[in-house]
Amino acid sequence: MPTICMASSKGGCGKSTSSVVLATQLAQRGAPVTLIDADPNRPVSAWAKRPGRPEHLTVLSDVSEATIIDEIEKAAQTTPFVIVDLEGTASMTVAYAISRADLVIVPVQGSQLDAAEAAKAIRLIRQQEKAFGRAIAYAVLFTRTSAAIRPRTLQHIRAELDGAGIPIFRTQMHEREAFRAIFSFGGTVEHLSSTQVGGLDAAVKNARELAAEVVALLRKPALKEAAA
Ligand SMILES: Nc1ncnc2c1ncn2[C@@H]1O[C@H](COP(=O)(O)OP(=O)(O)O)[C@@H](O)[C@H]1O
Ligand SMILES: [Mg+2]
Repeated sequence: MPTICMASSKGGCGKSTSSVVLATQLAQRGAPVTLIDADPNRPVSAWAKRPGRPEHLTVLSDVSEATIIDEIEKAAQTTPFVIVDLEGTASMTVAYAISRADLVIVPVQGSQLDAAEAAKAIRLIRQQEKAFGRAIAYAVLFTRTSAAIRPRTLQHIRAELDGAGIPIFRTQMHEREAFRAIFSFGGTVEHLSSTQVGGLDAAVKNARELAAEVVALLRKPALKEAAA
């Protein structure tokens, strides 16, 4: 069953946030999900200790370089979705996880410096494809973007990635207080209260769009072959 990794050597680009948002959305749609916290700082595990984790979502914390492949394979046998939140460095753990991925999501904030870090992640994916003799699908996810304005810089980066044939998610993870708040209050954006945070409807819509696009991508025939 599909394994999705969040990868970029850039810290703070939204890997953990997007992992939790995606995992909770998929779990709320009814599919059991294993979310593997492969970052030694354990940000996802800290979220999971708070109340409101969806019933179908299991969080695994005790993974290391030595166990990551076994944990991914075990989880893939028991749950329809496995999501791996990776640390923001190029480590063996990151390389191993990518080697087992059906889809690698590369979060990028709309700056040129972030795009350069994304290029590193993509090079690593391509190396793993060669090393393991299999295609690994990936796509860039723009994060922390403004819902209201479309800055020129972002359009420029998008055009450059397009020109290099790098797939980009149609959905962007907009900068939203709700995506920060789930790490303070626990649970999902659906369960936040409007007395706690504003803009909830927009955040919920954004989160659902991300999950729907990921599911649609995984259904693509080329990806299905890669996952088989
Ligand atoms: N879409 C978003 N909206 C608002 N804040 C965000 C969003 N994505 C990330 N953040 C914030 O940015 C910081 C870094 O995000 P994080 O998910 O921890 O990145 P990474 O895991 O790549 O290091 C955190 O403070 C997080 O709350
Ligand atoms: Mg993180």
